[in-house]
Amino acid sequence: MPQMKRIQLSFLHPPRWIECASEDTILMTLLAQQVPIKHACDNGVCGVCLTKLLAGEIHYGTKIPRGLTTKEQAEHYFLPCIATCKTDIVIAQPKVKIR
Ligand code: FES
Repeated sequence: MPQMKRIQLSFLHPPRWIECASEDTILMTLLAQQVPIKHACDNGVCGVCLTKLLAGEIHYGTKIPRGLTTKEQAEHYFLPCIATCKTDIVIAQPKVKIR
């Protein structure tokens, strides 16, 4: 059984929690739940999927977030395309607008 974590979409009113299997990337989970998010390389390089982490912890496993600047890292941005949930997390709105 995959271990489940939860992702809070803090930008929805009211905020919504979605379930995320701990081995799935956060990008895969958001797309499966029809949460609009831009992505391109799906490999942590381009930075297009950049999203702000407001609470909780993610991990990248063996992947390296090359598309993230030091400044973005310091401001708690992360790359959902290569990140999995280490704990339940709370995220800000990805760069695209929710319809
Ligand atoms: S889609 Fe390119 S860094 Fe996430």
